[in-house]
Amino acid sequence: MMKQHLIAAAFMLATGSAWAQAPAAGADTQLIRQGEYLARAGDCVACHTTKDGKPFAGGLPFDTPIGTIYSTNITPDKDTGIGNYTYEDFDRAVRHGVAKDGSSLYPAMPYTAYAKVRPEDVKALYAYFMHGVQPVSQANRDNDIPWPLSMRWPLRIWRAMFAPEPVGDDAAAAPAGAGADAQVLRGKYLVEGLGHCSSCHTPRGFALQEKALTDADGTAFLSGGVVEGWLAKNLRGDVNSGLGSWSKEDIVAFLKGGRNGHSAAFGGMAQVVQDSTQHMSDADLNAIAAYLKTLSPAGHDDGAKLAYDDATAQALRRGSDKSDGAMTFLNNCAACHRSSGKGYTETFPQLAQSSTVLSADPTSLIHIVLKGAEMPWTKAAPTHYAMPGFDYRLTDKEVADVVTFVRNSWGNKAPAVTAEQVAKIRKDVGAEAAPVR
Ligand code: HEC
Ligand code: HEC
Ligand code: HEC
Repeated sequence: MMKQHLIAAAFMLATGSAWAQAPAAGADTQLIRQGEYLARAGDCVACHTTKDGKPFAGGLPFDTPIGTIYSTNITPDKDTGIGNYTYEDFDRAVRHGVAKDGSSLYPAMPYTAYAKVRPEDVKALYAYFMHGVQPVSQANRDNDIPWPLSMRWPLRIWRAMFAPEPVGDDAAAAPAGAGADAQVLRGKYLVEGLGHCSSCHTPRGFALQEKALTDADGTAFLSGGVVEGWLAKNLRGDVNSGLGSWSKEDIVAFLKGGRNGHSAAFGGMAQVVQDSTQHMSDADLNAIAAYLKTLSPAGHDDGAKLAYDDATAQALRRGSDKSDGAMTFLNNCAACHRSSGKGYTETFPQLAQSSTVLSADPTSLIHIVLKGAEMPWTKAAPTHYAMPGFDYRLTDKEVADVVTFVRNSWGNKAPAVTAEQVAKIRKDVGAEAAPVR
């Protein structure tokens, strides 16, 4: 744990110094600053920086079905980075998915979302990457994909089939509408575009394309997707497994501080909050929340909103529930999440009526019990809590029992989880082998 704290602290110092770069003489300071803000909204640093690496120098691995690819150096170094990119070259990479040499980029670079970014914002990003980022000399890594799969031309077909046409200059004007309308439109612009929320939160189709790139494409948009062994949850209006029971203020608090009365960020979302959303202005976070609250339910909940039921807490306190799941819960979880399932607000999240617990897909629930998780560091909520992993302590059956117990206690109602499902996720996420009893 300590080591991770130090690494993260060092990382923050490292990034801090990059953000603080003095702009080159003559460059438009205001534009560079705006570009810096937009780079955070787009979370470019998350994918273009390795754990101990220099900001934006690339080299982070991405697993694809055909092999591993690596993000590239997007610092303004002329030999190894994008220092020789014109604005047009930069725009083609970021919004069209085409590299300077004309080859197509892998959609691990979320250009299908960035296609929605207006040219005026791309110009600010370009100014920042050319004049506000420290150049780093670091050669790009070749992808570990064997020939002939390494040929990039099929990506051109993929682009033709799935990538939207980037928005033009005519969209450069501020979104139409006033007051609440303008706020929702600003939120939609950030969510669909730079925020690329959909790249994690929307399920993918047969060619790994997102099933919807906007709400107009249908309720698959932001209805939940699995990324790196975590379920990026349903952000639509479903009351139990989505954001239907979260207020606008709850959403803002989560994106700003990484936690609220319902939940705390973990997995890929912890990094999104840490690198990106916590740095966004209150106006933009409120816009995102206002937009998310307009999304209709995906239809994942097959009933009304579940209400808290005290029966589980009473049975646990009396000792009358001797089931395997209840015993595993008391011995491993209750110290933090309490027998009431209510936890301690903003410290140990509640499990009663938690969307993580109630999602039909139990991926995140099994993953967090096996490997634990850490909340993000944020200015708004500087104290940092973590949950330990239980992979080495609990067998597949014990994990299945406790997760099933949590899914059906305190008024929760969700399908049971099997030991086979746990075994599969244990393998997928590289957790320790189960203890032998
Ligand atoms: C989700 C991960 C991810 C995010 C977020 C991301 N990128 Fe990328 N980017 C990649 C990957 C992976 C590649 C390499 C793709 C390939 O080799 O086909 C890439 C490639 C690029 C390239 C092409 C570089 C070259 O060498 O030709 C540019 C430019 C770029 N990204 C800029 C950005 C900017 C600017 C942002 C933020 C607005 C950003 N990226 C955010 C993953 C990401
Ligand atoms: C790198 C992948 C990734 C990206 C990009 C991403 N998310 Fe997430 N998000 C996740 C994962 C995984 C979870 C589930 C873990 C958790 O609840 O913290 C999650 C959870 C959430 C939650 C909590 C939902 C709940 O019911 O508990 C909210 C709200 C959210 N994301 C909003 C957003 C918004 C808004 C964006 C875009 C600005 C975004 N996310 C971008 C991966 C991502
Ligand atoms: C030492 C205290 C501690 C123990 C013991 C513990 N947890 Fe946690 N749990 C946490 C913390 C802290 C978080 C928030 C982690 C984060 O957001 O990164 C959390 C998060 C969770 C979440 C996600 C909730 C949400 O929506 O954010 C679930 C589900 C969960 N724990 C279940 C369990 C189960 C089941 C057990 C027992 C096998 C358990 N926990 C044991 C501290 C604990």
